[in-house]
Amino acid sequence: MTSTASTAPAASDARAVTLPTASATDFPADFVWAVATSAFQIEGAHDADGKGPSIWDTFCRQPGVIADGSNGDTACEHVLRWEQDLDMIRDLGVDAYRFSVSWPRVRPTGDGDWNEAGLAFYDRLVDGLIARGIKPYLTLNHWDLPQALQDIGGWGSRATVDRFVEYAIGIARRYGDRVVSIATHNEPWVVAQLGHETGIFAPGLKDRALAAQVSHHLLVSHGLAITALRALKLKASLGIVLNLAPMYPATDSEADRAQARLEDGKLRRWYMDPLFKGHYPADVIEMLGEDAPQVEAGDMDRIRVPIDFLGVNYYSRGMISADGSFDVRKSGLELTDMDWEIYPQGLTDLLVQLHRDYPVPRLYVTENGGAFKDPVGADGQVHDADRTRYLDTHIAAVGEALRQGVPMGGYMVWSLMDNFEWASGYAKRFGIVHVDYATQRRTPKDSALAYRDFVLRQRAQRRG
Ligand code: FCB
Repeated sequence: MTSTASTAPAASDARAVTLPTASATDFPADFVWAVATSAFQIEGAHDADGKGPSIWDTFCRQPGVIADGSNGDTACEHVLRWEQDLDMIRDLGVDAYRFSVSWPRVRPTGDGDWNEAGLAFYDRLVDGLIARGIKPYLTLNHWDLPQALQDIGGWGSRATVDRFVEYAIGIARRYGDRVVSIATHNEPWVVAQLGHETGIFAPGLKDRALAAQVSHHLLVSHGLAITALRALKLKASLGIVLNLAPMYPATDSEADRAQARLEDGKLRRWYMDPLFKGHYPADVIEMLGEDAPQVEAGDMDRIRVPIDFLGVNYYSRGMISADGSFDVRKSGLELTDMDWEIYPQGLTDLLVQLHRDYPVPRLYVTENGGAFKDPVGADGQVHDADRTRYLDTHIAAVGEALRQGVPMGGYMVWSLMDNFEWASGYAKRFGIVHVDYATQRRTPKDSALAYRDFVLRQRAQRRG
């Protein structure tokens, strides 16, 4: 994936793309190339036009929880600038755009009245995408639960499962004729673990038993929503998005291997086994002991319902040592600005493993990308050769999974543009488009131009 654009890094740039390139890979003609965002991270307009507060609006107001003390109040002002943003997506030449709906924008308290102004925003967005030839991929829950639901127990309460199913049906009735894909949840592990066990994400709770219960409620709500949406006979394909990483033992020791297996259980099998096999993994249940979730009769059947696709968000590998001594800084791999190891091989390993272990009909990489320090050059451009190389090598890793028989449907870059990176605030930049938050000016980085050129070449090959 080398860029032919004039702003591409010069050949003499030591960081220019030199690794085996994605371009060498044969992708199927119907493979979907996309960019992704989520509502809270870009929309802003946090209290405009009847929107209710989400748990992230509330969380950001607690002192010390967001690295730069920021919040999502204005973010990328996407609610205001959506037309310009859709033009930008069109100019990237991608097939599709993955976005999420803000639940409290469309149903401010998560219960009761729907907010027509909020619903109308997503009508404009969806219609605007279609008018530009871009396929809408909708995610229902990218973490911004209505605060009013949190006030009565949030995901720890079974009532939220029912509210989520109502929300899913409402959204599907409204947009289901126009979106090509609906995902129930984005990264339920993050909601459960980071939101309810470590507490570094909203709602900021620290209770292992609660986190386990939350994960169960998220899964039940997923299954019930899928069943309800199936009954609507939509054209859209239905699925869920998980954050996954292959877990490697740091050494060959029995202790490290056992720990790596358990970590794989907590991240991957905890979600994949219920979704595809109808049970929780025994080793993790045993590890949780009394903190294991309350499972009502019939729940496992509610969860294991056929889905059309699994979305995989991949950023890095897991290197596991039983004593916690593994240090990414000494691993010899390059790190992103999040201190995440850059390891494209892990994406191939992961996809192959998922395909081997579970009957997943279709997989998408629904997020992949990197935060890098992105200084704006003297020429006003961002020469992010490191990100271009990250995307290149990871796309090539998807190509390798395809060659090994994994039914891959598409690849989506995280993210379209720099945005609010949760507890890291605005300090970490994942965008292929740079955002100057003072002016809201958007500038495609070199990686955006490289991705655009790559997608254009793919399209030309399709025709040829
Ligand atoms: C994922 C989230 C996404 C973004 C990336 C960097 O966990 O789904 O919103 O923050 O990480």
